[in-house]
Formats: sequence, C-alpha cells, structure tokens
Amino acid sequence: MFQLDRYLKERAALVERALSGIVPDPSGPDALLLEAMRYSLLGGGKRLRPILALAACEAVGGAPERAIGFACAVEMIHNYSLIHDDLPCMDDDDLRHGRPSNHKVYGEAIATLAGDGLLTDAFKVLARSASDGVPSSVVLQTVADLAHAAGSAGMVGGQVIDLQSEGRTLTLDELKHLHAKKTGALFHVSIVGGARLGGASDTQLASLNEFARALGLAFQVVDDLLDVEATTEQMGKRTRKDEAAGKATFPSLLGVEKSRQFARELEHQALEALSAFGPSADPLRAIATFVVERKQ
Ligand code: IPE
Ligand code: IPE
Ligand code: MG
Ligand code: MG
Ligand code: MG
Repeated sequence: MFQLDRYLKERAALVERALSGIVPDPSGPDALLLEAMRYSLLGGGKRLRPILALAACEAVGGAPERAIGFACAVEMIHNYSLIHDDLPCMDDDDLRHGRPSNHKVYGEAIATLAGDGLLTDAFKVLARSASDGVPSSVVLQTVADLAHAAGSAGMVGGQVIDLQSEGRTLTLDELKHLHAKKTGALFHVSIVGGARLGGASDTQLASLNEFARALGLAFQVVDDLLDVEATTEQMGKRTRKDEAAGKATFPSLLGVEKSRQFARELEHQALEALSAFGPSADPLRAIATFVVERKQ
C-alpha cells in the first residue's frame, strides 16, 4: 500500500538537500541579496512542484535524480513568484510560510532583486543539469517549456490578469483561464518537464499533459477555498484577504460548495488521465488527492 506521507517526506528531503547547495553562503558585498534569496528558498513550503517533477519522472520509469536540477529550478521560480506576489504593489502580504514576507525583512528593493536572482539563477541550475546525464536536447526543450510556463505566456501573464481583474466579475471561462496561467502553468511544466526528463513516450506525455492541466487548476481552486475557510496559523499566510481585495476567485464566483465540487471533479479528471499507468504513477495519484483535500 502506497504511503504518501513517507513519499512526500523522502522526496522533500531530496529537494531540500539539493536546494541548500544552490545559493552560496552570504558573504561579500552582495551578502544581503544572497541572504534574502536563501530566506525564501530555504524557508519552508510544501515543495509540491518539485516533488511532482520527481514523481512524474518516476511514473515513466526515470530515476528521480534525473529531474532534480529541473525540480530545483521550478521551486526557485515558485519562490521568486511568491516574493513578488507578496509585495505591496501586488497582494501586499506581510506573512509567508509563517514568517514575515521577504520585503518585510529585507525591504522592497532587495526583495524584488532576490526574486529576480532566483528567477534568473533557476535557468542556470537547469542548464547545468545537462551534465547530470540528461541529453542536452531534452534539457534544451525543458528550458524552453519552463520559460514559456513562467513568463508572459504563463505565470507572469496570469499575475497581470489577476491584478487587472480585481473588483471585476469574470465569467467562468475567464476565471479558468486566469488560474490556468497564474498557477496552472507552473504545475503543468513541473509534471510534463519531469516526465520528459524521465524519458516519457509521446503517449505518456499526452496523458500527463491532461493530468497536469486538471491538477494545476484544482490547486488554485483549493487555494481560493482555503483563503475563505482556513486560518492564518494553518496556512502560514494571511487568509480571508481575497474577498477584501476584490480578487477573482472560484468561491466568489460559484460559492464554496460548488467550488469544492469543481475541485473534486478536477481530481477525478486528473486520476482518469492516469488510467493507463501502473503502480509507478501511485505517487502522482496520491498527490492529486492530497492537493484537493489538503488543509494547508
Ligand atoms: C502558493 O503555492 C501560491 C499559489 C500558487 C496559490 P503553494 O501553496 O504551493 O506554496 P508553498 O507550499 O507555501 O510553497
Ligand atoms: C499566487 O496566487 C500565484 C503566484 C504566486 C504566481 P495567490 O496570490 O492566490 O497566492 P497566495 O494565496 O498569496 O499564496
Ligand atoms: Mg496573487
Ligand atoms: Mg497572493
Ligand atoms: Mg491565494
């Protein structure tokens, strides 16, 4: 019987170890920048995107080590996005991972630059993983996919739509589009990229593409729900802020019950997409359920 708790712990430990070697110990004239980067990168979080990258690699028969550089790159981009998302010019949040947000400790200029540093260095980490035995053509494709998912066509574009939608009521399709970009894109590339690095076939990639689409959307629907239902202590970030900020969210459009139902439907779609996989995809299956049922 597959044990998700144990799997998450083991894979998170692999990710933590790899991440801890990426940003050098702060010293020299740019010490403050390195300290701010380490503060966010090594300051907790569920590590879901990198774990999904490793799990997707394993699902297609690859050793998790093949995707570890990519997994770190994804987590670096995620942490940069959180630093910028919390800035006063964006969501103006003072708490992240149960601690003051990056700009509350280091100021807005250094926080902005710490985000820039993590984003840019992510691609260095990924490009260097070509020396870990992964064919460089596959690494190159993954670089292009990650840039596409994180940039204007993906997460950054989604963040702009998020900000411009404040105080407006979106249609259901517009809201799905917003969530698919701001959050779904990075989840999607984590899974598809991990699988590509693991040597996935085109058929496997097509199934995982469907799985990742449903899971990425489900994740943000549940994040919206937790903003309404969970406490700040539980989440390590302020909750009940979306409504006050006039954010376009699933609960504000559909209500809590229908949003929960939609998240369950997406979980079902995600699991269906894995039907051709055997036990090697059990971690992905369990994570899909965890994403929808999580309490933090
Ligand atoms: C939070 O993501 C930002 C969103 C996209 C909603 P996570 O919940 O995965 O962040 P961690 O676990 O705190 O890093
Ligand atoms: C954040 O969405 C998405 C990104 C950081 C790209 P939210 O603004 O809902 O994330 P939280 O709730 O602050 O973690
Ligand atoms: Mg936001
Ligand atoms: Mg936010
Ligand atoms: Mg949120």
